[in-house]
Amino acid sequence: MYAGPQDPDSKPLTVPALQSMKQRGERIAALTAYDYSFAVLLDRAGVDVILVGDSLGMVVQGHDTTLPVTLDAMVYHCALVARGRRRALLMADLPFLSDTDPATAVRSAGRLLAEGGASMVKIEGPRLAAIEAMATNGIPVCAHLGLTPQSVHKLGGFRKQGRTAEAADRLRQDALAVQQAGADLLVLENVPAALAAEITASLAIPVIGIGAGAQCDGQILVGYDVIGLTPGRRPPFSRDFLAGRQSLAAAIAAYVAAVRDGSFPSAAEGA
Ligand code: KIV
Repeated sequence: MYAGPQDPDSKPLTVPALQSMKQRGERIAALTAYDYSFAVLLDRAGVDVILVGDSLGMVVQGHDTTLPVTLDAMVYHCALVARGRRRALLMADLPFLSDTDPATAVRSAGRLLAEGGASMVKIEGPRLAAIEAMATNGIPVCAHLGLTPQSVHKLGGFRKQGRTAEAADRLRQDALAVQQAGADLLVLENVPAALAAEITASLAIPVIGIGAGAQCDGQILVGYDVIGLTPGRRPPFSRDFLAGRQSLAAAIAAYVAAVRDGSFPSAAEGA
């Protein structure tokens, strides 16, 4: 039975705190969670950012894609996680079609903050007008570029992005554009490590990578992948940190330590 937070006075990390981590060269460790107990586990292990990802559609609900996830489901899971975290910054995904225009995006993000308890929302794609509208309304935004799972059908699968010179150039331009539109953070998913390193160095905002090499300002993975709970094939850019360890707490702490000291991802995991 959970006995309450170890340090009830610890304050949640803020957007400026993440910015300072980038400036100090301190890597940011992020993971997804979808419920209260997992949030407590991650928070106690020192995870800096907890994402209530729409990946819950696949790893919790058992769908093949993230597309069936509703805004109501996101708000529900976000509120569960909000009760468990103390220090980590809580970020929530804007699910498929909850951000089709700027006004809709602001309203959806508002629910994730006001009802779900999130302090930042993540939006897939270079949705500049929506990012600008949310930023103008005081909503911290994380942009998500590279492999954007909500566009899986248009991309033709969960494939690495930015491989051609033209695609790499588009990604560079999009990264700069989302920063200029007001994004506070950028997730880069499944892009070549060298390209991710270049974009990370060129932006003022922190860049969190997933399948994007070790030179990003931080790393994020689906929490279940880190503890060997993934049904089916685990993504090649993830690592099972429970293997050889005795507890979930030790596995999560090892993930945080490996992100901080740069030993995760390895060259093979980041490629
Ligand atoms: O939904 C999710 O879990 C995500 C991460 C994989 C970045 O977007």
